[in-house]
Amino acid sequence: MLPAQPPNPLPTASHGRSKTSAAPPNGSRGGLPPGGLDEMTRKIDVQSVVAQLQDTETFRELSWEGSFQEYVDLVAGDPKVARTSFQRLYDMILSYGVDEYIDSKKRIVHYRFFDDPDNGGRDAVYGLDLPLMKLVNVFKSAAKRYGTERRVILLHGPVGSSKSTIARLLKRGLEHYSRTHDGRLYSFAWVIDRPEGGEPLVAPCPMNEEPLHLIPLDVRDRFLEEINRNIPREDQVTIEGDLCPFCRCQFDELERRHEGDWNRIIDHVRTRRLLLSEKDRVGIGTFQPKDEKNQDSTELTGDINYRKIAEYGSESDPRAFNFDGEFNIANRGLIEFVEVLKLDVAFLYDLLGASQEHRIKPKKFAQTDIDEVILGHTNEPEYRKLQKNEYMEALRDRTVKIDIPYITKLSEEIKIYLKDYNPAKIRGKHIAPHTVETAAMWAVLTRLEPPKKAELTLLQKLKLYDGKSLPGYTDDNVRELRKESEREGMDGISPRYIQDKISNALVTETGRNSINPFMVMNELEAGLKHHSLIDDEDQRRQYRELLGVVREEYENIIKNEVQRAISSDEEAVERLCSNYIDNVKAYTQKEKVRNPYTGRDDEPDERLMRSIEEKIDIPESRKDDFRREIMNYIGALALEGKKFNYKMNARLQRALELKMFEDQKDTIKLTTLVSSVVDKSTQEKIDIVKSRLINNYGYDDESATDVLNYVASIFARGDATEQG
Ligand SMILES: Nc1ncnc2c1ncn2[C@@H]1O[C@H](COP(=O)(O)OP(=O)(O)OP(=O)(O)O)[C@@H](O)[C@H]1O
Ligand SMILES: [Mg+2]
Repeated sequence: MLPAQPPNPLPTASHGRSKTSAAPPNGSRGGLPPGGLDEMTRKIDVQSVVAQLQDTETFRELSWEGSFQEYVDLVAGDPKVARTSFQRLYDMILSYGVDEYIDSKKRIVHYRFFDDPDNGGRDAVYGLDLPLMKLVNVFKSAAKRYGTERRVILLHGPVGSSKSTIARLLKRGLEHYSRTHDGRLYSFAWVIDRPEGGEPLVAPCPMNEEPLHLIPLDVRDRFLEEINRNIPREDQVTIEGDLCPFCRCQFDELERRHEGDWNRIIDHVRTRRLLLSEKDRVGIGTFQPKDEKNQDSTELTGDINYRKIAEYGSESDPRAFNFDGEFNIANRGLIEFVEVLKLDVAFLYDLLGASQEHRIKPKKFAQTDIDEVILGHTNEPEYRKLQKNEYMEALRDRTVKIDIPYITKLSEEIKIYLKDYNPAKIRGKHIAPHTVETAAMWAVLTRLEPPKKAELTLLQKLKLYDGKSLPGYTDDNVRELRKESEREGMDGISPRYIQDKISNALVTETGRNSINPFMVMNELEAGLKHHSLIDDEDQRRQYRELLGVVREEYENIIKNEVQRAISSDEEAVERLCSNYIDNVKAYTQKEKVRNPYTGRDDEPDERLMRSIEEKIDIPESRKDDFRREIMNYIGALALEGKKFNYKMNARLQRALELKMFEDQKDTIKLTTLVSSVVDKSTQEKIDIVKSRLINNYGYDDESATDVLNYVASIFARGDATEQG
């Protein structure tokens, strides 16, 4: 084994730095400014002061604090400030913009948010526009309170289908949005003076509640009427939920102190900007069940603070309670339930209550209101295992299940791997062309359902899905194919398996500088033996067969590529072309051809002409027509004073290139068979072809030699089937 790859400096990080670094102080003027060095230094100072100023301004906005009245003014000016968590999440996604396109006659909306633009695309989700559209629609209907806000949103799919990636994106998106002006939100703290004097005690609401909860229930309607007077219905402020036990306790105590004077109670409230952050456990929570016997409800809804019981005298005093369960801290944002179906049944009901009632029940306290998006995910095997379980009934009824399948479009699947395996990241090892492509092709093939039409192969189906055209197949057919394959993408090989095997191939010591598709395919095949998710011999055999399909396709790809590299010698093709035309001209005019070497007039070379025409399947019976067509075309050009070039006729060009290839391929075959004695001119020809492979097709010297030898060996085997 090779030692691990040397650590690469992150290209994005250095980019970022060079972009943000300011232009040189005197860059545009060239040379020193009139005042010499002094003035230059002064200018730098000004710039840094400005930069500092800007920073303080952002800082001031992010750490905004104000009275309750000031907060109400803020809401009146911009009701979005008091949105629900679902609305905020939906608006956050939309804030990145959308693209629309038509795929197999279906209108698809692509949400740019899922390209992960904030993060240089590191967590971008590819090829899942349709499921993501469904997901965003669920958020939309929840934002509008059409009912899905009372459901657990369950991402469901096979292992490694990007469920966690999607959840991570949403959490990070919310964090980021809460720091922007459009996404801002607020909470509050109690400021209580101490009887002993000194700095007052600042006690933030432990659940980061919406400050409007402080408006007493019996006056809310009047308050809302007032604040919503000139606001369009869509954007009107609503208040949902009541104070949490801790704040209720503070409120009651102050009420007693101030004899019920609400204005004086509210003087103790400082409203403040809330910045969501998973690391700080503010507004973003993640719950991951450990083993099934070890789950404790306090992890979700908080726990008694035993040290404080003595201070407050009772364990049902909310000040002696930590409202720091995952549900508590995720208030105002989003809670992610990893592997939600592994949740103990008792907590499953906590979860269902939280989603349906928007309430949780901390130990010893009354129900407490929450406002958070509840997102769970589970993989396909886990879901199937529980399908017969009666608890599933309850869950199924209260969840919106969004299937997150594997990608079934080859070009999208390739993007997953190119993100990790590209020249910028993989230094010191060359990845031969088509390596990632063939691995991705196999992955997609394992996910496709066999087409019902017998004449369509699985590989052809893959190509149709990838947007290639096939004679006899229309967009409607492709749509039908998708429709008849209900479970497509829910089974098969996961991207993670492919990633692991490409990595293996990269680090396996072979004494070579490059990896090629065969090496990766061997890894893929070898790994099948121990693949933990395949327990079925039939399936294993089927996956192996599909590797065979991919190998064959790869051979076709490189045969074609080498063919093109060999025949792209334009001068030689041109010479062949004029030779052909001379003969055709003589043939059609029943003349002879002047042989340049002997100076004699010969009969037209029928063998040469046919050997070219056969390459594009022109039968003997049609050859006269074809030749006449060509001559007519050349004649018409001549009348316009133009000269014929073989590239003007696509069919003729193809025929000539194939003929060229046929003539030259023997040179290559020769090298493999007698590789120790290659004459100089042959070696030169090979070097030219190799350099074309390197310059035009992305090979390095080693991998170019590999494919040349391999293709030569295919032709040496004599099983060559020329194809277009
Ligand atoms: N559609 C996709 N777009 C981009 N990357 C993907 C896609 N599907 C899978 N991946 C990649 O595959 C890997 C696994 O993804 P992730 O961990 O999000 O899957 P998961 O569905 O949560 O899996 P599990 O069910 O095992 O928890 C990641 O590297 C991810 O980037
Ligand atoms: Mg996961």
